[in-house]
Amino acid sequence: MCGITARVGVGDSSESLVATLENLEYRGYDSAGIAVKNGTGLKIQKREGKVAQLRDAVSENRIEGELGIGHTRWSTHGAPSDANAHPHVDCTGRVAIVHNGIIENHDALRRDLEADGHEFRSDTDTEVVPHLVEDALDAGADPEAAFRAAIAQLEGSYALAMIHEDVDAVFATRTGSPLVLGIGADANYLASDVPAFLEYTNDVVYLEDGDVAVLTADDFRVTDLDGVDVTRGVETVDWAAEDAGKGEYDHFMLKEIHEQPKSLRQTIQGRLDDDGGVRLEEFPQGTFDAVNRVHFVACGTSYHAGLYAESLFGDWNVDAQTFLASEYATHPPAIRDGTLVVGITQSGETADTLGALEVAEDAGARTLALTNVVGSSAARLCDDALFIRAGPEIGVAATKTFSSQVAALVLLGERIARDVTGSPTPDAEARLDALMDLPEHVDTVLANSQAAEVADRYAHEDSHFFIGRGSAFAVALEAALKFKEITYEHAEGFAAGELKHGPLALVTETTPVFAVCNGNNEAKLESNVREVQTRDGPVVGICPRTSDALADTADETLTVPATHPDLVAILANVQLQLVAYHAANDLDRPIDKPRNLAKSVTVE
Ligand code: AGP
Repeated sequence: MCGITARVGVGDSSESLVATLENLEYRGYDSAGIAVKNGTGLKIQKREGKVAQLRDAVSENRIEGELGIGHTRWSTHGAPSDANAHPHVDCTGRVAIVHNGIIENHDALRRDLEADGHEFRSDTDTEVVPHLVEDALDAGADPEAAFRAAIAQLEGSYALAMIHEDVDAVFATRTGSPLVLGIGADANYLASDVPAFLEYTNDVVYLEDGDVAVLTADDFRVTDLDGVDVTRGVETVDWAAEDAGKGEYDHFMLKEIHEQPKSLRQTIQGRLDDDGGVRLEEFPQGTFDAVNRVHFVACGTSYHAGLYAESLFGDWNVDAQTFLASEYATHPPAIRDGTLVVGITQSGETADTLGALEVAEDAGARTLALTNVVGSSAARLCDDALFIRAGPEIGVAATKTFSSQVAALVLLGERIARDVTGSPTPDAEARLDALMDLPEHVDTVLANSQAAEVADRYAHEDSHFFIGRGSAFAVALEAALKFKEITYEHAEGFAAGELKHGPLALVTETTPVFAVCNGNNEAKLESNVREVQTRDGPVVGICPRTSDALADTADETLTVPATHPDLVAILANVQLQLVAYHAANDLDRPIDKPRNLAKSVTVE
């Protein structure tokens, strides 16, 4: 899941190409490169490592041109190196290509091309593309036709951008990987994601799978693979350039943790009506009358949001199950009539989740995308979409989108339950009132948190366990994922009742256990805490201020404001996001760009 970019317009493009790559670096940071076209042909600069290394190289050895392409890499084929960095060129150097995705038939194509005398300079799957274009050019095709001829031979997922030394245009296409155009005043842009060019324009064109775009300084044309024109409208996104910046924070993750009151207000706004009900304009009453079960499909943090919702839907008499999308895509359960398959995905581009949704579509299920990105592949693939409105999330570790996903699922669940059961969920009014107060409660947690001190005490321990029951079990799993992702330390989440069936053997005085309490089953959680303490395991309780049980039992506590038991765990999760953040800071980890990870995983 690399990031690709392009610019064509007035003045030099190299500076804004590097700037847009910096805005895309959350998609991959193994190497980076740009290619620009000027009067003397194509000029390329590429370096292993972060975009900062590329910026140094470009300032030391300036290359300028009015149009160009760029790439920041997350390696799939070929180790991080200067040679494997994109852009890749053909034997003559007149064509340059950048790519996001995986070309599954690259081996066979490479063998044929090498047999025809093409010389390869890298170990990447991508490099077959410029050589295929070269073949078509040698056969007399013009650059656009040569680009189409090359694409027609590819299998797999790809977003590609190409420039040719003789043409004042950028050629691009997408199949299975995201690609958007940015329509500006004095230049046009292309990128894997909107935040890349937000500082230049908010006017966006979302490309669909199979689209081929030709981008010039003052226009764009979109056709299908055969060259037939297709219409793609320009939409204005309501994100500000600052949203894509760190502001006064050291890291995007900390900024996004602190943005949760605002993002939750955006998620809830206009969706709670005055009669203690839910108003989702996308889903009027009766929308889900035919639904008799819900399958949540998702990955990582989004999967944990699904587990959280599943624990609530059960209490509301709605049959719901959460599945790992990668398993659902290859080993689907029975998908019977009346199944609503909800794909939970903040980016809307996670290949595993898209794969699961395609399986659901093929099985005739109704599909719904719960996503943060308008125009994303998931939103366009599904029958319906519900947007969580959290604003762009740049830090690889998902934070504010988890809270907004759970809040949106509480709203969606109320709508589904009322249609399925014919009546409001138990305690609906109290829960929805508490949802309205949630942003304020998060503010209180952020203002009073002692998480930094707790993190200092335990950051260097061998292992870190997180336990909980019901919605707090989902948060225990989420907290362990956050901790692993950014500290690189061993961390695991368990259902609190499961400890004594094995994991307890791992508990010693150097394995702190974070016990998450949502106000339900306190006595049972208390006894789980005692099991740990009798093995000298230190216990940190995360609980509502009013919870005496844990406050009296745990070695120390991180408290949250008391609120509806179905929402407490969201507040507890904010505390645990801060614990993970401060622990990673203590360990001096690259918090926004943890090793081996990327923000949206667009390959299966
Ligand atoms: C979470 O911090 C990770 N970035 C990762 O697990 C992520 O949640 C997962 O890849 C799913 O992403 P999505 O919500 O964009 O589909």
